[in-house]
Parts: sequence; structure tokens; C-alpha cells
Amino acid sequence: MTQGPLTTEAGAPVADNQNSETAGVGGPVLVQDQLLLEKLAHFNRERIPERVVHARGAGAYGTFTVTGDVTPYTRAKFLSEVGKETEVFLRFSTVAGNLGAADAVRDPRGFAVKFYTEEGNYDLVGNNTPVFFIRDAIKFPDFIHTQKRDPYTGSQEADNVFDFWGLSPESTHQVTWLFGDRGIPASYRHMDGFGSHTYQWNNEAGEAFWVKYHFKTDQGIKNLTAEEAEILAGKDPDSHQRDLREAIERGEYPSWTVYVQIMPAAEAATYRFNPFDLTKVWPHADYPLVEFGKLELNRNPENIFAEVEQSIFSPAHFVPGIGPSPDKMLQGRLFAYGDAHRYRVGINADHLPVNRPHATEARTNSRDGHLYDGRHKGAKNYEPNSFGGPFQTDRPLWQPVAVTGVTGESVTPVHAEDNDFVQAGNLYRLMSEDEKERLVNNLANALSGVTRDDIAERAINNFRQADGDFGKRLEAAVQALRG
Ligand code: HEM
Repeated sequence: MTQGPLTTEAGAPVADNQNSETAGVGGPVLVQDQLLLEKLAHFNRERIPERVVHARGAGAYGTFTVTGDVTPYTRAKFLSEVGKETEVFLRFSTVAGNLGAADAVRDPRGFAVKFYTEEGNYDLVGNNTPVFFIRDAIKFPDFIHTQKRDPYTGSQEADNVFDFWGLSPESTHQVTWLFGDRGIPASYRHMDGFGSHTYQWNNEAGEAFWVKYHFKTDQGIKNLTAEEAEILAGKDPDSHQRDLREAIERGEYPSWTVYVQIMPAAEAATYRFNPFDLTKVWPHADYPLVEFGKLELNRNPENIFAEVEQSIFSPAHFVPGIGPSPDKMLQGRLFAYGDAHRYRVGINADHLPVNRPHATEARTNSRDGHLYDGRHKGAKNYEPNSFGGPFQTDRPLWQPVAVTGVTGESVTPVHAEDNDFVQAGNLYRLMSEDEKERLVNNLANALSGVTRDDIAERAINNFRQADGDFGKRLEAAVQALRG
């Protein structure tokens, strides 16, 4: 902002910003005091709807650098050369809390990356966990209702949380992860990120691959215990946000080494786990991590509302060489985010500086709407046209996927080793004795808030099926707490 007198929104100088205009000294206020009316009216409209999930977050800009050759697998231009750099914006978040919630809580963390590539923005909207609670988008609103405040009590209710999880056994893997040590990261810098879903990469020759992304923190994993988190959440509700901003201000730029697991498309049908089931990982022994990049955050946003609150990320923002998989969760997300952005930020959300492409320009025939800035000037607004307007490329971003069968509300196909408990059990058995102890205690503490025995028992039974020892210890710990 330039120096000079305070003005109204229309730029006229303001004589008095302390006293409103009255009819006589001590009399009622005049409608002609436009400064007063403008200030009050603008203030009433300062808020936009918060994100329905992941409302609480922090963001930063940075750079993605290619460190490994992945051109045999994808033709995405930003990945075309070792050493190539692409600007990024990353927003971290918690999931269930509202905008003013504390950061240090047991909850997954969002890890949403926008790559400003020369072929358009590529958004990878992931979490700090490789899996999720459910495998079909149709269950997402119900699931989130159980994580948010109860319509009657106005609080998050253990009954709702464990009722839904108990009745949704596919959640067992993610819940085991969440109540383990990694369930409360010490900061956004000290955790990994995952694309979580399976995505498609395709190369110049038109070959398709299924891939999973992993971002491994270079700061090392650091977590909080339940007790540490309880104190920190009270003392410094903004702990994650502050940590990220201050680290970048100090020049301690956080970074992540980026890997991908790559499955040739032909192997998907016979893989031991359904590769499009978001409740499952691909063990590294089956598909090893291939390193291909470094992501560094090195610039704080200047205005949190403009650049973080109004930032939009969509799993449907792909670039040539990258596309969706048939994962039913991902398919639902391809709709949900754009819809949320149009409601939350508006139809021209993509035009805001943080959201628009930085390394190319958007050339569409969409026009007008709230807060349209006239960027297209007098250009024709239809296609095809004879005036040199933008044209289609005739080359899809991703390769087609073969499908068979009839339409219908189908259950996610089960592969040879799929069931709801196998990977939760494997995760439990990987833990040290101390970790198991903390996991059982964390879960038992949360379960002890459940008011109905049948709900608690059904929830415990899922962990019993994952691992007999896990179930036995959890049952005993819950009994001790519930009496
Ligand atoms: C079908 C399941 C899901 C639906 C319908 C859904 C829907 C949404 C919606 C509506 C938002 C708010 C968007 C906005 O207002 O800008 C959101 C945010 C977010 N979701 Fe999901 N979500 C789903 C599953 C997931 C999964 C599986 C992940 C991670 C693997 C995830 C990660 C995120 C992240 C990181 C954000 C915050 C993005 C940001 O920072 O702006 N979501 N989700």
C-alpha cells in the first residue's frame, strides 16, 4: 500500500476515523456517514464458509525439484528432466476441527500440494497417512458427521465415532494407525505426506502405470504423546502453524524427499490386494519406493486469508501424463472439491493469485460471474472459432481404462488377500512393545468415553480380528477404565 491519507473504499480521504457523524452533539447517527456504514457492512462480510473438513490449516510456497528420471512412466512435463524446478504451494491441515481449533490433536493431517506446472496446475491432495477410514465416497458425509459435533450435544461424541468405526470394519487399519505414535505429529514439518490414492501415470508411448506417492520428511518423524499434546493444545493452539512460519522465517526450510511406487497397469487385476482400495497399502517388498524428487518450502504467504483460506486444491486438477484411478473414494473426490470451491470461494476462485496457473495461463471460454476481473478483454468466448481462439489438443491427459460388466451399486472387488483386518494386524505386529502399549492405552482412553457396551464391544471386536493379542489387551484396558 502506498503512503498517504486513510481513504474510503472508493479512495476519498477520511477526515475522522474516531467519531461517527451525529445530528447535533450527542444526537443520533446520520445515514450520510458513509464511512461508518461501509466499515460495519464490510466487517459483517469478512468471513467465508470454512472448509467443511480440513478447516484448520497453514500454507507455504516452495520448490519441487526432480531428482530421478521418471520419463519411462510419465510424460508430465514438470517431471521431464532431472534438475527441473517447479513452484509449489502446500497447505497442511487437521481434519475434524473447525477453523479456530487447536493444532496438537489426534487427527490425520492434510498434505495438499499444488504444483504450478507449465501444463497447468497439478494438485495432489493427500494426507499424512497412506490409507483412509473408508473405501467408498458414498460413506464420507456419514463418516465426517461422526467426527464433527453431534447435532444435539454440540460436542464430538465417542459414541458416534466408535459406532461408525465399529460398523465400518474397513476403518480398522486407519484407526490402528491413528491411535499409534504417528497419530499426533509434533509439527507439520515432522511428518510424512502421502498421495494415499492410486493414480495413473502414462508415458509418451501411451503405456499406463498405477502409482502411489510418498513424501518422506527430511526433518525426521517427531510425534507428541497424548499427554504432551493435551498440554500443548491448551498452551499454544496455533503450535503447528507457528512452527511452520517461524522455521521458514529463520531460513530453516523444511523439505521432503519424494518417492513413487509404480505398478505396471497389467498387474493390477491379479495383485494380492485390490490396488484401488484406499484402506490398503502396497507393501514396499511388492512395489519398492522409487525416489524422484525433493520438495522444499521456502516462502511464507503474506496474507493468510488471501493465500491460505482462499486457496483451493482439487484431486481433479491433473496435467498430461497423470490421471485418476477407478478408486471409488477418489472418483467421489473428483466431484466434491470443485463443488466445495464454487460454494466456499466462488465461481472465479481459480482466478485468485494463489490458485491460478503461474507457469502458463488458463485459456477457457468461461466468462463473467461474481468478481470476474475482465481478464479476457474482448476475446471471443466460444470454440471452435475463426478468430485464433484457443483450440483442443485431441490428446487426453490419461489413458483409457478397460471396464466390463453391468451397472449397479457394486461392492469394491476383493482380491486374493483382501479382508478388512489383515493390514491392521500386520501394522500392530510391526510395533515395538512400547508402541503397542501406547496404542492400546490411547484407544482404551477414547473408547472409555463410549456410553453403550454394545458399541464398545463391536469396536473392540474389529481390533480382535486384526490381532488376537491386540483385541485381548484392548478389552482388558477398556474394562479397567469402564469398570
Ligand atoms: C470421498 C471422500 C472425500 C470427500 C468427499 C472429501 C471432501 C472434501 C472437501 C469438500 C474438502 C473441502 C474443500 C474446500 O473447501 O476447499 C476437503 C478437503 C480436504 N481433503 Fe478431502 N474428502 C474426501 C477424502 C479425502 C481423502 C481420502 C484425503 C487424503 C488422502 C483428503 C484430503 C483432503 C485435504 C488435504 C483437504 C484440505 C485441502 C486444502 O488444504 O484446501 N480427503 N475434502
